[in-house]
Amino acid sequence: MSDGAAHATLVSFPLDTEFIGARIVVMDRVASTNTSALRLGGDGTLVIADQQTAGRGRRGRAWHSVPGLGLWFSVAFESLLPGISFAASLAVRDALQTFCPTELKWPNDVLIHGKKVCGVLVEQRGQRVALGIGINVCHRAEDFPEVLRETATSLEMVTGQPIDRREVLRVVLTRLDERIRVLKQGCHMEILEEWLEASNLRGRRIRAGEVEGSVTGLDPSGALILLTNQGERRVISGEIAPI
Ligand code: BTN
Repeated sequence: MSDGAAHATLVSFPLDTEFIGARIVVMDRVASTNTSALRLGGDGTLVIADQQTAGRGRRGRAWHSVPGLGLWFSVAFESLLPGISFAASLAVRDALQTFCPTELKWPNDVLIHGKKVCGVLVEQRGQRVALGIGINVCHRAEDFPEVLRETATSLEMVTGQPIDRREVLRVVLTRLDERIRVLKQGCHMEILEEWLEASNLRGRRIRAGEVEGSVTGLDPSGALILLTNQGERRVISGEIAPI
């Protein structure tokens, strides 16, 4: 199920991976690569599309996925690998760091100068899991809908250089595959610890909805542990803001 044009454009390099790419499905246009990965399944199946017509983000939001400008792809797993969303954001951080400095935002965003360049969405149907990653690569500010212009950025916007999406994809997949191997050895707490250190969140005072407190750690599910005036609280989803 691969399409000639998009395949040549996006996956025209040999994959240096053990897990990712057991099967590769490339499409010009799809509703959501996560939906396709959940439908197709197969450990390591990679689904990538040039455009998503119904790309989705966390908390029921839409993910802006126009053709030619970003990387929209998903990897299928036949069971949930604990820590995979944190491993994914670390892998993207490592890959993008070769272009410019990046920051991590809980739970799984990658930012540049405080604006979002990458989002990660893990979805599960039964045992089957899709790890979806969206990276803004070639957008100019005017390519984003107005509502996103204050909060979203792209690699080309920050570097001022033309960037080859294939090169970004190649490095992200390589880094992600390395992280998946670590998780498969059962080292997911190490990944969470690395993520927390890289995020600079430890000790920070934050607000999450009604809850305010200092971050003391991440629990094994990736929830933020806060020390509040009422004792320890866990934040499992939503947005956090510094205070
Ligand atoms: C977020 O809200 O930050 C998560 C965004 C995840 C977007 C990616 S793009 C590829 C995959 N397919 C989707 O529909 N969503 C994810």
